[in-house]
Amino acid sequence: MSKAYDLVVIGGGPGGYVAAIRGAQLGMKTACVEMRGALGGTCLNVGCIPSKHLLHASHAFEEASHSFAAMGVKTTGLSVDLKQMLASKDEVVHGLTQGIEFLFKKNKVDYVQGRGRIEAKGKVVVTDADGAETTLAAQNILIATGSESTPLPGIEIDEKKIVTSTGALELKKVPKKLVIIGGGVIGLELGVVWRRLGAEVEVIEFLDKILPTMDGEISKTMQRILKKAGFTFRLSTKVTAAKKTKSGVSLTVEPAKGGDAETVEADVVLVAIGRRPFTEGLGLEALGVEMDRGKVKIDSHYRTNVEGIWAIGDVIDGPMLAHKAEDEGAVVAELMAGQAGHIDYDCIPSVVYTWPEVASVGRSEEQLKALGVIYKSGKFSFQANSRARAAGGGEGFVKILADAETDQILGAHIIGPDAGTLIAEIVLAMEFGASAEDIARTSHAHPTLNEAVKEAAMAVDGRQIHA
Ligand code: FAD
Ligand code: NAI
Repeated sequence: MSKAYDLVVIGGGPGGYVAAIRGAQLGMKTACVEMRGALGGTCLNVGCIPSKHLLHASHAFEEASHSFAAMGVKTTGLSVDLKQMLASKDEVVHGLTQGIEFLFKKNKVDYVQGRGRIEAKGKVVVTDADGAETTLAAQNILIATGSESTPLPGIEIDEKKIVTSTGALELKKVPKKLVIIGGGVIGLELGVVWRRLGAEVEVIEFLDKILPTMDGEISKTMQRILKKAGFTFRLSTKVTAAKKTKSGVSLTVEPAKGGDAETVEADVVLVAIGRRPFTEGLGLEALGVEMDRGKVKIDSHYRTNVEGIWAIGDVIDGPMLAHKAEDEGAVVAELMAGQAGHIDYDCIPSVVYTWPEVASVGRSEEQLKALGVIYKSGKFSFQANSRARAAGGGEGFVKILADAETDQILGAHIIGPDAGTLIAEIVLAMEFGASAEDIARTSHAHPTLNEAVKEAAMAVDGRQIHA
């Protein structure tokens, strides 16, 4: 017997669960199929949330170890209880995934546990953990199956000694030496966690800089700050082999452009060279769903080439970010319901949750130069921001890039305390097509970190006050 739905979503991550809830809100009879045994996808289970919890907990330890005494707060006998730290992370994850189940009940979304396969247009077959099959009839099918860690050929992941981010969130003891392949977001966030907890951390990056897609000045500043925190870097380097030894892993590395090989020893190796869309077992090939370099190909309305099949999130093109997937989830449900929906992809922020944090939106200086855009840059250091100084910090800056002629904000790049929160006002300004002067003339409470954003906006016109 098959149950009939207006919308069947395959994948219960930030893209899928948001689409399911928004679809139900718009009056569609909706089901969401998820195979991992918990809702929330990569983000809640093995991504954003557990990594942010470990970043938060390890930051607390770091602050207590190194900053409290200078402020007159004395501690003795400080130590890390890793088992408890991991348990508290699991508790946060469990609570939030249960929260999505609650939201499904509240919005009358059916949560179907098992692996979904699109057998034909309008037909999803779900296989549960015992192998039992259920058929769901669906007017609209949404592929929101997310992504998985990209493997490095010849390097076998065991999630113990050679791990992806999933294993790196679960290490049972602090490794003496952690080698990270890939100086991107995962490498730096998780590297920071284990460095703070006592590991020696070395990053091996193929390109000549870390965070290669970010503004060059941010990437350089981040590398300097991490070096100071004890990281070591091998840039323009490739790993050609990994051999497990009794005590750890022996890596063979060589210059990216070729040259003499060297050996690097590690207790644990984290492979973090990117993520790739996950569509395995969905049956897309048999249905003739068009793909583009491993991603599901869609039109401007998230429709695939097969009628009634839509796709969003990490499985399609664009930045692999939870908020991008969520925005697409809401918009695709609105489009299915015949409403208008739109995302401005130039206004999607990207944040690295280290400390200081990095946050970025719009174009980098390198991109503007490559595009031949004439721009002005306004920069303000947190050294001159009273709130950052009062909180014992001051590292980093806000940089706003605006069109030289119209003053419209084209990009913003922040490295500093709470950068991920600070960027929000610039994102909103950009959504409204604001000029740097619009931010500069907006009242900002004193003393706040946001005043650094205001001063950077003033600096675009060379009229900053506090620097
Ligand atoms: P996913 O979250 O991957 O969800 C897809 C779901 O579909 C999965 O649960 C999977 O089990 C399920 N599924 C797949 N195939 C089937 C099938 N056939 N049947 C049933 N179910 C299926 N992004 C941020 O914005 N901020 C962060 O701080 C951040 N931190 C991250 C940290 C780490 C360590 C990682 C790995 C990622 C992080 N991300 C972060 C990225 C973020 O997790 C993803 O961009 C986001 O989860 C994508 O959402 P999605 O719904 O497209 O896919
Ligand atoms: P990434 O794309 O951010 O970084 C991968 C890095 O590995 C790049 O610097 C790349 O040049 C390098 N690299 C590629 N191949 C290599 C090789 N063979 N040897 C050495 N270096 C190599 O990917 P990452 O860090 O794995 O993260 C995956 C995705 O997850 C990202 O796209 C990101 O959007 C998302 N994510 C987001 C977070 C956030 O928003 N805070 C946190 C963690 C992940």
